[in-house]
Amino acid sequence: MKSQALWAILCAVACCWVGLAAGVSDPSEANSLAVFKQATGNPPALANWQGNDPCGDNWLGVTCTAASGNTARRVTQLQLPNTGLSGNIPRVISQLSQLQLLDLSSNKLQGPIPVELGNLTKLQTLDLHSNAIVSTMDPWLVQLTSLTTLDLSSNQIWGYLPAGITALTKLQTINLASNNIAGPILPALGQLTNLTMLVLYDNKLNGPVPPELGNLTNLYGLLLHNNSLSGTVPPELANCKSLGWLFLHNNFLTGLVPIALTQEPQLVASCYPKRKDTTAIRSAKLHPTLSTAS
Ligand SMILES: *[C@@H]1O[C@H](CO)[C@@H](O)[C@H](O)[C@H]1NC(C)=O
Ligand SMILES: *[C@@H]1O[C@H](CO)[C@@H](O)[C@H](O)[C@H]1NC(C)=O
Ligand SMILES: *[C@@H]1O[C@H](CO)[C@@H](O)[C@H](O)[C@H]1NC(C)=O
Ligand SMILES: *[C@@H]1O[C@H](CO)[C@@H](O)[C@H](O)[C@H]1NC(C)=O
Repeated sequence: MKSQALWAILCAVACCWVGLAAGVSDPSEANSLAVFKQATGNPPALANWQGNDPCGDNWLGVTCTAASGNTARRVTQLQLPNTGLSGNIPRVISQLSQLQLLDLSSNKLQGPIPVELGNLTKLQTLDLHSNAIVSTMDPWLVQLTSLTTLDLSSNQIWGYLPAGITALTKLQTINLASNNIAGPILPALGQLTNLTMLVLYDNKLNGPVPPELGNLTNLYGLLLHNNSLSGTVPPELANCKSLGWLFLHNNFLTGLVPIALTQEPQLVASCYPKRKDTTAIRSAKLHPTLSTAS
């Protein structure tokens, strides 16, 4: 009887010990997050980042794999919009190798984006919009082959669109608006047929609007206004059967609006030069009797 009771106690203790040890955070990832917190200015919003179990202790913005057996829990999402982060994006972020979502938007982060970010090959969403990042997209971006959403808008991203972006075939949203991106809109973007939003307004893009963009049959928004694009509006854009918003104003485009575009009943478009305010854009729905070409 006595030995039975002792055995039961031993067993309970052992089970309890296993229960505590199982499913805690990966120690090196906990350390990486602690380094990240210091490197981004130790903002008050991260006050609950204490101890060494970010997954178990529900650190703000941290999402992990579920607790399961003895496997350490891994960080899968880091969502820290508007949390007062400052300084450069710390290289240590690249150690969170299971990360699928990284949202550091609306902070005071500066550039450049560390090349090690390209190690996060499971990343599906990268949202760094509205910071003060001064960076190119080379060479890290083309390694992020799982990306579906890329938002680097409202920063100071410069350089050209990297040619390798066309390897990121899962991309559904590209938002690079309000940066300093120069050079041409790559015709090969027309191969990214999962794209629903291509948002490149307020940049320094030049050259033509590639007719290949007409291959983007899932595209809903094509926002290219306020650049230095030239040439004519390609009639192939009428092949984008999902297109609802087409903004091309504030460029150097010439010629008439292709008649095929005017026959898209759902399309709200602004192709005319020097139109900027939203009211004008919304009311600039193409009309067959306006300037059209056959
Ligand atoms: C991480 O990125 C750096 C720089 O791009 C590279 O040298 C290194 O090999 C990468 N590490 C892993 C584990 O992929
Ligand atoms: C679209 O994305 C899916 C996965 O989300 C991928 O399997 C497919 O190859 C992509 N389509 C193209 C044309 O690349
Ligand atoms: C157009 O984009 C540039 C950035 O390239 C920006 O500085 C400027 O304010 C924008 N102009 C308008 C009218 O929005
Ligand atoms: C894409 O568009 C271009 C020009 O409109 C066309 O020549 C090409 O065949 C298209 N490619 C695919 C894969 O549909």
